[in-house]
Amino acid sequence: MLGPDDRMNEGRENGADSRFVHIITYGCQMNVFDTHRILQVLRPLGYRETDDPAMADLILLNTCSVRDRPEQKVIGTVTRLKPLKESRPDMMMGVCGCVGQQHGRALLDRLPWLDLVFGTDNILDLPDMLAATHKGRRVANTRRMKRREYEFVGVDPAVERGPTAFLTIIKGCDKVCTYCIVPRVRGREVSKPADVVEAEVRSLVASGVRDVTLLGQNVNSYGKDLQDGPDFTGLLERLDGIPGLSRLRFVTSHPADADQGMLECFGRLPRLAEYLHLPVQSGSNRILKLMRRGYTVREYLRCIDTARKASPDIAVSTDFIVGFPGETDEDHRMSLDLIRAVRFDAIFSFKYSPRPGTRAVRMEDDVPEEVKAARLLELQTLQDGIMAERMSRFLGRVEEVLVEGPSRASGFEWMGRTRTNRIVNFPPPEGASIGPGDLVDVRIDEIKAHSLRGTVLP
Ligand code: 5AD
Ligand code: SF4
Repeated sequence: MLGPDDRMNEGRENGADSRFVHIITYGCQMNVFDTHRILQVLRPLGYRETDDPAMADLILLNTCSVRDRPEQKVIGTVTRLKPLKESRPDMMMGVCGCVGQQHGRALLDRLPWLDLVFGTDNILDLPDMLAATHKGRRVANTRRMKRREYEFVGVDPAVERGPTAFLTIIKGCDKVCTYCIVPRVRGREVSKPADVVEAEVRSLVASGVRDVTLLGQNVNSYGKDLQDGPDFTGLLERLDGIPGLSRLRFVTSHPADADQGMLECFGRLPRLAEYLHLPVQSGSNRILKLMRRGYTVREYLRCIDTARKASPDIAVSTDFIVGFPGETDEDHRMSLDLIRAVRFDAIFSFKYSPRPGTRAVRMEDDVPEEVKAARLLELQTLQDGIMAERMSRFLGRVEEVLVEGPSRASGFEWMGRTRTNRIVNFPPPEGASIGPGDLVDVRIDEIKAHSLRGTVLP
């Protein structure tokens, strides 16, 4: 019988005359998607991906600037790669993504061995930029495309690997959250026309993709800028009818745009998987107002209530920021109360970090580092208990699992996901050959900290 590793190695290409690109991707799924688009633009130039920087003819860092000191991290990595560049001057090295967009040419000035910097709107210019670097020029291109001229890089299914795929349907963000650098680095919202989205989902399905995650910094704002296209709910309805698609997901939605119609889709669209990531950021109305989030705790709770009424088993995850300027112990306690009230399946929590060019940078970052750290720990400890309890509901249940590939923990086992986005590991079933893209019924026998284990039922 073939184990997962054997199956995954079947049909691997042998490209002796290829050039190789090594891409390091930081940050959100939007960046993972952009990395795929970069690979797609490079393919006709003969590039294939390698995970070994020493083999690469081109190294790109696709960067994120949402938190911390990301430029420090980028400078650190580019500096670590300097000896490689010195030993192989023909190897090109570039920085792209949000840090590239934000700092542009300044990165070339700071790092004299760097060949290329480009922004989030410039992926399609890559062939011209590379031609210039090969002539010995150093290139910085962070030209922002205007809303009307914005061009998405079309999706080539050959670049997506496996049965799951991300698909950007809206870029940018028109919100004004005071802590957030995204509107600055990713620009205004531009929605991809619905016909294009539908054609792309169909082509992904035709190439074997079964689970599509629609992406946008503010995905449910989709369609507001389109003259006569559907809104986000209309788009979900349209995509839900595509034959061969097993699951549809979306991230990240904004509570202020999560209307009842959208939330009720979880109860009536059969392919829409029962998983909602809805960042709340704080449980204090005072802080939400300072953040300019545009909703109250009560309105947020109403969203969760509507989603759970539509789909009682839905998994709900969120983001929290602790230590926003002016956050008191009382505000923090309100965040903990909200966590107890909602009982999230997962929380991504972050210490506030001031970002250049945002409104909050003008407020005093007055919560001491050790208080931020203590609040983060308190929040995470509370959530660990809730998550364990939420996970325990799976024990003994039979879950529909989409097989994705070999388990990370063991090449002898398969890994897949439930509709609620939980990872499930399981041994290959006796007497049946399964592979990526198959839907199998798995009985959950064991609950681990962050995953489930089970047995495939015949
Ligand atoms: N400081 C800390 N966390 C932030 N996030 C965004 N900006 C900041 C910031 N300046 C978090 C939010 C957002 C997630 C992607 O990152 O929680 O939802
Ligand atoms: Fe990071 Fe935001 Fe850019 Fe994504 S869009 S890479 S989260 S800064």
